[in-house]
Amino acid sequence: MSSRRVAVVGATGVAGRQALAALQAHPWFELCAVAASERSAGATLAELLERDRQVWADTGLAAPDPVVDTRPQSLASRLPSEWLSLRACTAEQLPLDELDLVFSMLPTEAARAVEPVLAARVPVISTAAAFRDEPDTPLLLPGVNTEHAALLASQGAARGWRGFVAPTPNCTTVGLAASLAPLHAAVGVRAVVLTSMQAVSGAGAGGPRVAAAALGNVLPFIDGEEDKVGREFAKILGRVDGARIAPADCAVSATCTRVPVADGHTLAVTVGLREALSVERAAQLLRDHDPWRGRSLPSAPQRWIVVRTEQDRPQPRLDLSEGAGFSTVVGRLRPDAVLGGLSLVVLSHNAVLGAAGGAVLLAEDLADRGLLPAPR
Ligand SMILES: NC(=O)c1ccc[n+]([C@@H]2O[C@H](COP(=O)([O-])OP(=O)(O)OC[C@H]3O[C@@H](n4cnc5c(N)ncnc54)[C@H](OP(=O)(O)O)[C@@H]3O)[C@@H](O)[C@H]2O)c1
Repeated sequence: MSSRRVAVVGATGVAGRQALAALQAHPWFELCAVAASERSAGATLAELLERDRQVWADTGLAAPDPVVDTRPQSLASRLPSEWLSLRACTAEQLPLDELDLVFSMLPTEAARAVEPVLAARVPVISTAAAFRDEPDTPLLLPGVNTEHAALLASQGAARGWRGFVAPTPNCTTVGLAASLAPLHAAVGVRAVVLTSMQAVSGAGAGGPRVAAAALGNVLPFIDGEEDKVGREFAKILGRVDGARIAPADCAVSATCTRVPVADGHTLAVTVGLREALSVERAAQLLRDHDPWRGRSLPSAPQRWIVVRTEQDRPQPRLDLSEGAGFSTVVGRLRPDAVLGGLSLVVLSHNAVLGAAGGAVLLAEDLADRGLLPAPR
């Protein structure tokens, strides 16, 4: 497969940094440009990582394995020197005629303004929420519902774009949908009650401030998160119905909290199922689920879902590096008498599979299925 020329917009943020990590030495995608806000334009990546290193320097939280660490100081030592000397531009200054694909890692409001302008010329894969609820737009989680990508062609055509905007889900929804999709396919998910324990890097640039508030503490509210999880979960597990997605018939009640953890979202989930499923059978379904069988995508992990049987796993400090942050780790599987299903604990990397890694994996999946335009 010949290489596609790509840019990362929002390259200096938590997700953007992980996009750079996921694109490093990538066999299919060649990083050609990085963009950020006007405050960063003109500076080199090395200078910007140094600027942000100061901000993230001491959150007081233990750093995870460097491979899945979202902090600037970790990335600065990993990127190739030619990338560190790239100068950031603004999104408006990107050389779109020379690009095959843009990864957009912008805050939602900026994405709402910028992504349509980019998509008019080139496909955009986005971790932002701006387009997730649009009726003509699929919400794509690779390994779970890439067949919804059929809608991208009609989205672009109806809006007069040469490209499209393909959003990936919210980072909390990612772990939930990745772990419950095999159970939904087998017996149907009827209802979900969950409490999330979300890492501070999920707050993006606000991470260091959130870390200070969360240290020795639990913050019991994350603005907008709980509604997003229910809406997005039903859309991801829904089915294509003409030019829209009919959401799955499934009620979700979420309580989203922020905890003093650097990276990795943990979810305590109880799921009501439409048919009985033993713990052993559920564990087998999860272990056996391999959406990448017979495919060879560069970022797909060897094990998509890892099932731990120890009573005290998964833990962010011990399990976040599974599959370099692309695997979902499930544990504490047990029967639940209240919803008539199962309870489980799910760990997922919010910025790898939950954001930029997921975006790069989606790009690989779309390219492999012939759903990206040929390289220029
Ligand atoms: N963090 C996560 O775990 C996570 C997970 C899933 C989804 N997401 C979503 O992914 C997106 C990025 O999140 P994040 O956590 O990486 O945010 P972040 O750390 O706050 O980074 C935001 C990035 O966007 C740039 N930016 C801000 N306004 C801009 C504008 N008007 N034009 C161009 N660039 C602009 C910033 O550049 P400067 O450095 O110049 O300010 C920075 O590079 C958000 O929509 C978020 O909801 C995040």
